[in-house]
Amino acid sequence: MHVLVTGGAGFIGSHSVDALIGTGARVRVLDNFSSGKRDNLPAESPQLEIVAGDIRDLATVERCTGGITHVLHLAAQVSVAASVSQPLNSASVNVAGFLNVLEASRKAGVQRLVYASSAAVYGAPRRLPLDEAAPTAPLSPYGLEKLINDQYAELYRDLYGQSNCGLRYFNVYGPRQDPHSPYSGVISIFAQRLRAGAPITINGDGQQTRDFIFVGDVARANVAALQCDTPGVVNIATGRSVTLLDLVGALATTTAKPPQVEHGPPRDGDIRYSAADNTRLVSDLRCCEFVPLERGLYALMADGGSC
Ligand code: UD1
Repeated sequence: MHVLVTGGAGFIGSHSVDALIGTGARVRVLDNFSSGKRDNLPAESPQLEIVAGDIRDLATVERCTGGITHVLHLAAQVSVAASVSQPLNSASVNVAGFLNVLEASRKAGVQRLVYASSAAVYGAPRRLPLDEAAPTAPLSPYGLEKLINDQYAELYRDLYGQSNCGLRYFNVYGPRQDPHSPYSGVISIFAQRLRAGAPITINGDGQQTRDFIFVGDVARANVAALQCDTPGVVNIATGRSVTLLDLVGALATTTAKPPQVEHGPPRDGDIRYSAADNTRLVSDLRCCEFVPLERGLYALMADGGSC
């Protein structure tokens, strides 16, 4: 495979690049380095080429798809909050930028396109666990943009026979997730505070549930999705949800001192319970083993360790 990874210097992107290089693939990263970091990528690899550029520029994307067999499209405006405060900017990256990648891939005759969708397309679940046929009702421009991606991808399958697949990531955590950005996941925030010996704040009673998946598992799923021809959308989750209190308990086992836990008010618009049905991930992408939460947290706290 000769794979173009957009957003390859980011959190999920850089772990995916590592996994692809491990399979022997050649990789071209396209990243505008707005949130991605050069340091996330291997210092030197004959298999790796890095292009600094923006997916909003069609000419750049067209140049980057030259000679490419597979595309893993992860570049995005990833902040839910920023999609609310700056919807035009968010859509320019997540809708227009996505379309550039879709269209350039089609014109270049790329064999397979895999792109990042999100659990945010489901909004507040009406029934659990969420399978891919669950009703979609995004609560933010970000969620809507990802749903539009899914619809465009389906249209390109129908119109042009393009082989593509959207991966609906649930709560991804692991090394290289930036704890300082406004869109940081709860685990990276808690890990950073525990390392600093600072208290952590649980929003509400801590009984809310999430399906937390280790980034190494996500990278493996991305590679598996590139290597098969499964169409449509696939939930990327472990199939096991935990409460926030359970999460704190698991984190406590990785630190010498018990964490100081404070409770704040529930977060506005917070989803109470989330749980994923990952049957398609297991049966179609054949990803059936997941790093247990305790082990993933240990790797994270050991800073940069892998599982
Ligand atoms: C994700 C998005 C969020 C969006 C929501 C709606 C990320 C990181 N978050 O939230 O922006 O509004 O989907 O679909 O992409 N928590 C604490 N203490 C903290 C931080 C978080 O208790 O310091 C809680 C939250 O209130 C939440 C849980 O931890 O109940 C998980 O939070 P988060 O990691 O932000 O994920 P989502 O809630 O899924």
